[in-house]
Amino acid sequence: MDLSKLSKPELLSKCEELGITQCKSKKKSELIELIKSKETKVIEQDTPNDNIVILNADCMVELNKLEDNSIDCVLTDPPYFIDKLNNNWSSAEVNSDVKNSHIKHLPKGMKFDKAQVKNLYDYYLELSKLLFKKMKPGAYFLSFSSPRLYHAIAMSCEIAGFEIRDMINWTYTQNMPKGMSISHIIEKMNIPKEEKLKLIDEYKDYKTPQIRSCFEPICVAMKPIGKLTFIQNELNFKTGLLDFSQKVGIDHDRVPANIITTEEYNESYDKNFLVSKPSKSEKGESNTHITVKPLALIEHLIKLFSKKGALIVDPFLGSGTTALACKKNDRKCIGIELNTEYYKISLDRCM
Ligand SMILES: C[S@@+](CC[C@H](N)C(=O)[O-])C[C@H]1O[C@@H](n2cnc3c(N)ncnc32)[C@H](O)[C@@H]1O
Repeated sequence: MDLSKLSKPELLSKCEELGITQCKSKKKSELIELIKSKETKVIEQDTPNDNIVILNADCMVELNKLEDNSIDCVLTDPPYFIDKLNNNWSSAEVNSDVKNSHIKHLPKGMKFDKAQVKNLYDYYLELSKLLFKKMKPGAYFLSFSSPRLYHAIAMSCEIAGFEIRDMINWTYTQNMPKGMSISHIIEKMNIPKEEKLKLIDEYKDYKTPQIRSCFEPICVAMKPIGKLTFIQNELNFKTGLLDFSQKVGIDHDRVPANIITTEEYNESYDKNFLVSKPSKSEKGESNTHITVKPLALIEHLIKLFSKKGALIVDPFLGSGTTALACKKNDRKCIGIELNTEYYKISLDRCM
């Protein structure tokens, strides 16, 4: 298509289709460049086995090519649009941004910026609208998120037409506290020394407002089944009903709950909510991705929300955990990853 023949409103709507946000004020030539940069990304394709397709591409472009009403389940861990972790995630930039607890180099995700939440919402709304077209009625759309961004993910799914059916809480104990002491700020205040020492002592137990985060909410959205009953929808599309033969807990005898843990930490929790502990080797030796999800957690979700032979799509595949879980559990998978380094890791893990 000759983009130069399109009007500015047509270019803007193409940008919207491709998930390019905040471009209303850009010139026509800039819009054309942005569109080209998305569309001309080299798409490599490989097939670790016939049912697992991994693409090195932009998800908006690839999802557009899928048949309408063809996806049985979407399971994804999207970029949260915090710091450099957005829909143009660059591993070089992310890795060079060394974690540092200094106030001017907050740990990743600790800058509170309303624009980031809005950008996530705008982007996820476009993605959700597109997925809504491509998914079967009764198909589940599961998105990992974070406690302070869950509302943006859930609202964008809801506004795109999905029903929010639940929120799963993936709980863990191992996470660094992010609240920071304020004594060094008081130290720099232009007040008499005595007053300073008094303030430092008074506020010695106070920190900036970031509670240690020990869970990730997973948004459970479903494409509505219209006027059909669940069993009618099941017979038509094989979606919607959940497989409760999928047991959890340390003795594998409890029905799935909306709390999940992947580490043992307390008798009652382990009995009710433990899925399975991650093994040291499951990430793969050379996996450099910073947000790899435990394989057992992804396998549990896939087995609960889809059937053997179902088509699972992960638009933000990262290092390939969803594809690997599909391969191990007889599901088909289309995984899309923009970053070539992570794409190669995905292929290695699934071969
Ligand atoms: C949170 S990570 C997923 C990690 C994954 N769950 C795992 O276990 O490895 C999100 C991924 O989305 C990718 N990404 C960001 N924007 C994308 C886009 N527009 N299309 C496809 N992938 C994208 C990033 O490169 C990143 O690897």
